[in-house]
Amino acid sequence: MNINPRLDFCVQPGADLTGRLTIPGDKSISHRALILGAIAQGTTHITGFLDGEDTITTLSAFRQMGVRIERPAPHEVIIHGVGLDGLQAPSQALNLANSGTSVRLLAGLLAGQAFDSELCGDASLMQRPMRRITEPLRQMNANIRCSETGTLPIVIGASNALQGIHYKMPVASAQLKSSLLLAGLYASGKTCVTEPAVTRDHTERMLRHFGGAVRKTQEGICIERQPLLGKPIEVPADISSAAFFMVAACIVEGADLLLPRIGINPTRHAVIEILQSMGADIKLENTQDCCGEPVADIHIRHSALHAINIPAHLVPIAIDEFPAILIAAAYAEGETVLTGAAELRVKESDRIQAMTAGLRALAIDVTETDDGMRVKGGRPSGGIVDSYTDHRIAMAFTVAGLAASGPITVHDCANVSTSFPGFVDAVSGLGIVIDVSHASNG
Ligand code: S3P
Repeated sequence: MNINPRLDFCVQPGADLTGRLTIPGDKSISHRALILGAIAQGTTHITGFLDGEDTITTLSAFRQMGVRIERPAPHEVIIHGVGLDGLQAPSQALNLANSGTSVRLLAGLLAGQAFDSELCGDASLMQRPMRRITEPLRQMNANIRCSETGTLPIVIGASNALQGIHYKMPVASAQLKSSLLLAGLYASGKTCVTEPAVTRDHTERMLRHFGGAVRKTQEGICIERQPLLGKPIEVPADISSAAFFMVAACIVEGADLLLPRIGINPTRHAVIEILQSMGADIKLENTQDCCGEPVADIHIRHSALHAINIPAHLVPIAIDEFPAILIAAAYAEGETVLTGAAELRVKESDRIQAMTAGLRALAIDVTETDDGMRVKGGRPSGGIVDSYTDHRIAMAFTVAGLAASGPITVHDCANVSTSFPGFVDAVSGLGIVIDVSHASNG
């Protein structure tokens, strides 16, 4: 029986991409504001919050752990923090749906609690690697295990005193780093992590904003137990969501788009550098500080793009933007080469495989490699592509349709609301013709 009809998008080429577009709040920062607000003392008032499915999942998890959370208006959250030791045992397993950030950050936090818990998720999350989290947490003396295949469910027993460790992370993952820093808040002594490459540092910045004892030292990024104090947080707009419209404006003739108050944290902004080195006309205006995070208005105008070899050091700090960047590559002159991006294979879908299949369906010449791909740019044709239920793949191919030689249909797009609620309205508001249809899954 077909219970959930599939949501498909069909986008027509051509649009008037001019004016301002408001992008929803940053997903990573919204998760962290909820988590730290819940375990802080006092009230945390969040504005600019991302009302997406992933962040609502984290919010529900804290309600299930006894935290009082109000929603006075859209994009606003008031959290009545319970302090480091005030969370209550949830009455059932916490289902974190599609959200890798929720599961990994909560695993670290829950490893330090005096109660048992269990974490599960949807079909995509149930397949993603979790041993990268459970192994170092076990080294901290956590009572935690995942399945034999290294996936969810994660089962966590009441903490019998975590101990600080010095951990050399084998993968460049902000989720892993953040998980260990949150566990470090509950550990005796100091917990230090070193990363093989720089990853997003929102956890460190927000911990400091809340008065946490996190420091960058010669031993790595280190934390010690210290109470957190609730604070107002304004969440910047999400650069990962903005990336789709940066690419859209690059490829549509006559485009001239302003995206206000986008987070341009240096550990996230590589998409701008990559697109600029492909010839994109992108300017940052009105740069400001927003609760410890830099923001700016991003101004993009149409320009011809050319291929590049994407520098390895930029890969971890543009990791979520590759679906969008690879669409830019499909419109660029020459062959764009991406390497060192094996992590893309363990995101909400195998993004290397999903982008290869989708671009090939649009007659773009792509070579898939273990840790990346090579894309020979040109002009994508119309066609039918599968999103593999991955929000970022769905949005990337929707944007690809704006300058293709025919309409592009993208299958299975319901998940765009995990990170970009209102995506269809945003797209339609720019004069893009998008047809949304419910199709049978069977
Ligand atoms: C995130 C970190 C990244 C990113 C994800 C959000 C975060 O994952 O892909 O969408 O909020 O910490 P990894 O840290 O696993 O690379």
